[in-house]
Amino acid sequence: MNRPAIEGLRLNVPTHVNHPRLVAWVAEIAALTEAASVHWCDGSETEVQRLTEQLVAAGTMQRLNPALRPNSFLARSDPSDVARVEDRTFICSERPEDAGPTNNWMAPAEMRAVLQTGDKALFRGCMRGRTMYVVPFSMGPLGSHIAHIGVELTDSPYVAVSMRTMTRMGAAVFDVLGGHGEFVPCVHSVGAPLAEGQVDVPWPCNATKYIVQYPETREIWSYGSGYGGNALLGKKCFALRIASTMGRDHGWLAEHMLVLGVSSPEGKKYHVAAAFPSACGKTNFSMLVPPQGFEGWSVTTIGDDIAWIKPHADGRLYAINPEAGYFGVAPGTNYKTNPNCMDTLKRDVIFTNVALTDDGDVWWEEMTPTPPAHLIDWQGRDWTPEIAMANPVNGKPRPAAHPNSRFTVAAIHNPVLDTEWDNPNGVAIDAFIFGGRRSTTVPLVTEARDWVEGVYMAATMGSETTAAAAGQQGVVRRDPFAMLPFTGYNMSDYFQHWLDLGARLAAEGTRLPKIFCVNWFRKGADGRFVWPGYGENMRVLHWILGRVDGTAAGAEHVFGVSPRYDDLHWQGLDFSRAQFDSVISIDQPAWQQEMKLHDELFRQLAYHLPAELDATRVRIETKLAA
Ligand code: OXD
Ligand code: MN
Repeated sequence: MNRPAIEGLRLNVPTHVNHPRLVAWVAEIAALTEAASVHWCDGSETEVQRLTEQLVAAGTMQRLNPALRPNSFLARSDPSDVARVEDRTFICSERPEDAGPTNNWMAPAEMRAVLQTGDKALFRGCMRGRTMYVVPFSMGPLGSHIAHIGVELTDSPYVAVSMRTMTRMGAAVFDVLGGHGEFVPCVHSVGAPLAEGQVDVPWPCNATKYIVQYPETREIWSYGSGYGGNALLGKKCFALRIASTMGRDHGWLAEHMLVLGVSSPEGKKYHVAAAFPSACGKTNFSMLVPPQGFEGWSVTTIGDDIAWIKPHADGRLYAINPEAGYFGVAPGTNYKTNPNCMDTLKRDVIFTNVALTDDGDVWWEEMTPTPPAHLIDWQGRDWTPEIAMANPVNGKPRPAAHPNSRFTVAAIHNPVLDTEWDNPNGVAIDAFIFGGRRSTTVPLVTEARDWVEGVYMAATMGSETTAAAAGQQGVVRRDPFAMLPFTGYNMSDYFQHWLDLGARLAAEGTRLPKIFCVNWFRKGADGRFVWPGYGENMRVLHWILGRVDGTAAGAEHVFGVSPRYDDLHWQGLDFSRAQFDSVISIDQPAWQQEMKLHDELFRQLAYHLPAELDATRVRIETKLAA
């Protein structure tokens, strides 16, 4: 094979890489970025050990006490680089209307000038003094007909090691690619070139950030951030933004959904896919421990964040988890809220922006009821409860861990990993659940009576914002399908795609999953959550499965079917009728207000808005007024 040479740079192409287009692209990006060297990742244990040692020597990560947390590390990011940057995320389709009003848009040629081709292009020379890692990865089991391959070029060894945990990363990917296989090219730079002799900082990044998707050419370019979804490009950029456009074009779905298995005491197995906005407990739900009263039931995890769902010849929708690890929010995780997750985190974890204990372990808010007397906080400062009180943030004691601090851990460490999690054919989905974070208005659970009503529910979902994205927290924003920051094309076209897929599958005789909307987060007059959540969500899941089987009763109302008190299984929980009423009730004036917000959303999305959705809105409004 003709292996391109770059003056002064050895491309080091491994002998088993025989993909001319891939090699030419690596050469092109190495030349553009002026990387000092190129390293092709093979995903081996030796490689990860060498990279982690290098990261420790550079001060990016520190090894935790091996007696307490074997083979685990703490990374502290730059305080300016702590979350996904939605306002710097762009969908660069040729036509602005194909990105739609919910995405930032720039014409591809214009963006290419900013990033690649202009005189001051950001990627020009951006890897000077750094190694460029070639990271081959498969989203989904290697070789699965549902999976797709990506290759990330990055100048961040932290990203390279994180990708090894989060995806199927390594040399075997090149074998699947062969000489001409398709891959999504992903280019990432922290945007901090090093001059000759310049000493690096522990967390290089740039104040200028661009997270760019080109949906038509299926390319990803990310500049300036080393954090999470901004930098681990297999996750949000590929598995959601690019994959959603692939799904639109080829008749499948890429969704911001966990996937779980539920087994009944009789041995019946169900699979449920559930969409919640970022940091609303998807990991907790996917590892749920059935509470008292559900002896013999078990919940197992297939995925905690993303699902790729394709119709199968047997007429059902099958889902895989394209990821291989969890990049979860640490604060709030503890042995009460998610014991399986705590057990997952016992070893082989990269923690980012959590606090460090005096004995070399980690801590985050709510990990234990009482915080340790002394910690080093996520910015490396001394932290005591007194210091925290004396330096409040938003009226609360200054947290020791950043609210969006994370763990990166391989799925195989999850004690309740579903046996089918790696099945290349995926699992057949019985129900879709959509859930927002709403302190008022939205009932605990509602079943849609048909596919269109379900799509309407998902499309009009609202949620209070969380720390997973930079910006203000706690304000209600419409978050259709929990996909607001992740749909790689026009949101109304995405709604249409869901409707079309449903109509096509129904016409072909497919048993479509039932659709439900849930809200764990309603608060009482005292400002506290009424529903206990976590394991107790099993009660709602149980009702949902009963509806799937046709064995559970419910009452029809204006926009769907919800359980009455006696329709839920209460054994083991003391929850009064009055409490239930305050999480299930439909407040007419609040809903009339809510419908105004649906109308506002639909006005914003008027271009290509499916007529069925607006008709559903009018029908609900008319019924509410009657
Ligand atoms: C995530 C997110 O990291 O949704 O999963 O922000
Ligand atoms: Mn997510």
